[in-house]
Amino acid sequence: MLKDKSVLLIIGGGIAAYKSLELIRRLRDLGAEVRCILTAGGSEFITALSVASLSGHPVYADLFSLKDETEMGHIRLSREADLLVVAPATANLMAKMVAGAAEDLATTTLLAADKPVLLCPSMNVEMWKKPSTRRNVLQLLEDGVLLVGPEAGDLACGEVGMGRMAEVDEIVDAVVDQLTPRARILEGHRALVTAGPTHEPIDPVRYLANRSSGKQGYAMAAALSELGAETVLVSGPTMLPPPAGVQRQSVETAQEMLEACLEALPVDVAVCVAAVGDWRVSLDAPQKLKKRGKRPPTLKLVENPDILSRLSEPSNRRPELVVGFAAETENVVPFAAEKRKRKGCDWIVANDVSTAGGAMGGNTNEVHLITETGTESWPRAGKAAIARELAQRIAHYLNHEAV
Ligand code: CTP
Repeated sequence: MLKDKSVLLIIGGGIAAYKSLELIRRLRDLGAEVRCILTAGGSEFITALSVASLSGHPVYADLFSLKDETEMGHIRLSREADLLVVAPATANLMAKMVAGAAEDLATTTLLAADKPVLLCPSMNVEMWKKPSTRRNVLQLLEDGVLLVGPEAGDLACGEVGMGRMAEVDEIVDAVVDQLTPRARILEGHRALVTAGPTHEPIDPVRYLANRSSGKQGYAMAAALSELGAETVLVSGPTMLPPPAGVQRQSVETAQEMLEACLEALPVDVAVCVAAVGDWRVSLDAPQKLKKRGKRPPTLKLVENPDILSRLSEPSNRRPELVVGFAAETENVVPFAAEKRKRKGCDWIVANDVSTAGGAMGGNTNEVHLITETGTESWPRAGKAAIARELAQRIAHYLNHEAV
């Protein structure tokens, strides 16, 4: 995802600096070249040796180092990067940026930068809440920096509140987001995405559902739309706002979802991300089931229509490309490969939804793309990053280019 991209990571002086070591590794796993500046504060928390070993480059720390300047001056450091990431971004470092200070290598490089800057703030909750910090953050946003985090939670100082640096997954996502070009290569194409859970009524107040949050499907619809596809998102009940430019159709049950999908045809690509309830109650009660003096009711379940299979059936309305998702808790790839054949779709994206996998409801996913020609395993990434990568592959396929 980040092949041929170069990131300059500025590691400030905060306890979250340890997470930056993982960040270096993850960015490199995705193909990026990572060079690092370690501030004096940062070097109180992690060592230059760890940073150099993980990044595979010398660590830059000193503004007036003759050696650094001859090999890679501070201007070149920022010019050669596609993106500058400051993680952790301390209150002090942000204040210096607002003031336009250039008193060490980090601040001088930031001031000299002509590339986007992504800040990952990290500090104590009271520091984050201070009017001065609020003003500085607003000013930096106004100046065009990008921000990821902070998050609320337990802080290293023992207090609880806003101030934790964003998780590495989220930072990686933001980097990928920033560095992925978005040519509108799906303009003129129509896309259909299903997302979220379904609710299968038991009576007017109860239903059968599942843990799907809809995040992966919404990210998929957003990614296809960003590439210019006219996108219909058929969504089960979720708390998510519709992505910009996407036409959302809200449904509750599997049957309603199928109807909405059939209505959206013809499309060039259908991506079924929804966690459709496999069963519904054969006859949902017209009135609320009462427990008074009665035994618990026995629910008779009948099978729901399989939307992915229906869309994959050969017909003149079959989308050129049908993509399914396979939620598995064991034997992920073999089970998903079998599912691809059984359902008749072209590609299937297998993910591990066991608790250890953390995909259901979480922000990241680790997937395997299974096509007719084989299986490709992707590194764990944020759901948005996965959606964007998949949207690119879909675009290549529909444009008859190598996937
Ligand atoms: N799917 C669908 N309609 C259904 C069930 C599933 O469209 N009634 C789609 C999902 O959107 C997903 C794919 O089929 O793209 C696989 O879903 P999954 O839940 O993994 O498979 P199931 O068919 O439910 O099989 P099983 O529960 O046996 O794993």
